[in-house]
Amino acid sequence: MQAAESFSDQILILHRATSLSDLGSRLHFLTARQIELALSGLFPQVTVLSFGSSVNGFGKTACDLDLVLLAGKRQTADEDSSDCRLVFHAKTMLTNGRTQVQRHMETLGDVVQLLLPGCSHVRRIFQARVPIIKYHQGLTGVEWDLSMTNMSAVYMSELLYILGELDWRVRPLVFAVRSWAREIGLTNPTPGRWITNFSLTLLVLFYLQQHSKFSPVLPTLSRMISLAGPGDHRVTSDGVNCTFIRDVSQLCQHMTSSVRKLPNTNSLETLFIGFFEFYSSFDFSTCAISLISGVSVPKPDHSPLYIVNPLERGLNVSKNVSHDETERLRIEFRNTAWMLESVALTPEKSPLMASQKKADEAWGLTALFEAPNIASKARNIFYIPTRSVSPSRIVDVSDLFQQNTGVSDKSAPVSEVPVDSIRSSKQQSEMQDGIKPGTKVIKVSNRLHRR
Ligand code: UTP
Ligand code: MG
Repeated sequence: MQAAESFSDQILILHRATSLSDLGSRLHFLTARQIELALSGLFPQVTVLSFGSSVNGFGKTACDLDLVLLAGKRQTADEDSSDCRLVFHAKTMLTNGRTQVQRHMETLGDVVQLLLPGCSHVRRIFQARVPIIKYHQGLTGVEWDLSMTNMSAVYMSELLYILGELDWRVRPLVFAVRSWAREIGLTNPTPGRWITNFSLTLLVLFYLQQHSKFSPVLPTLSRMISLAGPGDHRVTSDGVNCTFIRDVSQLCQHMTSSVRKLPNTNSLETLFIGFFEFYSSFDFSTCAISLISGVSVPKPDHSPLYIVNPLERGLNVSKNVSHDETERLRIEFRNTAWMLESVALTPEKSPLMASQKKADEAWGLTALFEAPNIASKARNIFYIPTRSVSPSRIVDVSDLFQQNTGVSDKSAPVSEVPVDSIRSSKQQSEMQDGIKPGTKVIKVSNRLHRR
């Protein structure tokens, strides 16, 4: 156990203690290598690339492993394709490309299920925008999500990795916000109508692109695109342009030389509190979040929560998030901003500290995460449902990403985790209680307006 001396310290310790370890990372690569070796007899140049939180620097211990399988060798910018032998030779089917990918993935699912040691619980999710196969590798204890057409997600991981490398505060802050969301049941390992860790990460990065009297901690994507060199050129096979500067030190230099305001030296504590203040007053009903420009833009459609996909600009990363979940997110931002004003953010330094009772009192992140009674009371203050809350937050993945492809999906249904096992019954009943609009709400919203 490590003793923290300040709120910022707690955030750093949380990050250090929960981020994916070197061993975890090696087990992920070993798991990816297994499928590469298994298929290399058929496709000698098969490549399996890891993406997502296990490689972008935002991975937690036991996070899932996102993989994309490329049957032909990936061309890097400096490779001349004319030298390559044609070793991936597949038949063209008289169907559309998506159906062909689904058929390939069905076969892949069978190979994994029937032939690969340690692999079990194979689930085929083909109706999602990006068809995936999910399974469990018992020997390394890793959950996999395998796709075949997701190069933009690989480049997205590069983008997130670079942003995490730019400033030492980025990753601890993302971890703290993701832990907060998990503690209060905003996120859930099962896919559903709630916000994902990836969307939450983008919310934090967008917040770090803001500037006040200080310069922003992170650059906008437009800036990163404008600084790209010839070696940074990347376009996916389906035409998504993922070109942006990859050289972290060069980007750092540009950031430092172009600073026109005071450099941002805010502590993690200040940034964490600032995050909740920022989103407490963010207009989610009309504005979308865009990391491209670093400013909010008008929403292009009526999705309750709109986060522009930085690389595939026509897509909303948080399209799955329902109205109720967006409302809950908004309320939790306010509650937490309010709680951060009320809980002790530092250990008592008074002589009373000498007494064991006082020393054991929760403060800072611990008070925020481990005082469910205080937290749920405060949470209740703000919860005024605008619509009745749906009896269950569980949905089938195919309902979320329904695309009428005309192909029947033989995938097994996604396992459903009862919500009650994730959210305490107390929180559940509070969610469903109507809250009398009254003085408390007005009082607290006044507090927020005063900021
Ligand atoms: P995940 O949802 O698995 O997120 O998407 P994650 O970052 O790995 O977080 P956890 O730890 O599993 O919860 C994997 C990756 O897919 C890309 C991003 O690179 C993300 O990190 N992605 C995801 C997109 O490019 N667009 C999306 O809409 C969603
Ligand atoms: Mg993941």
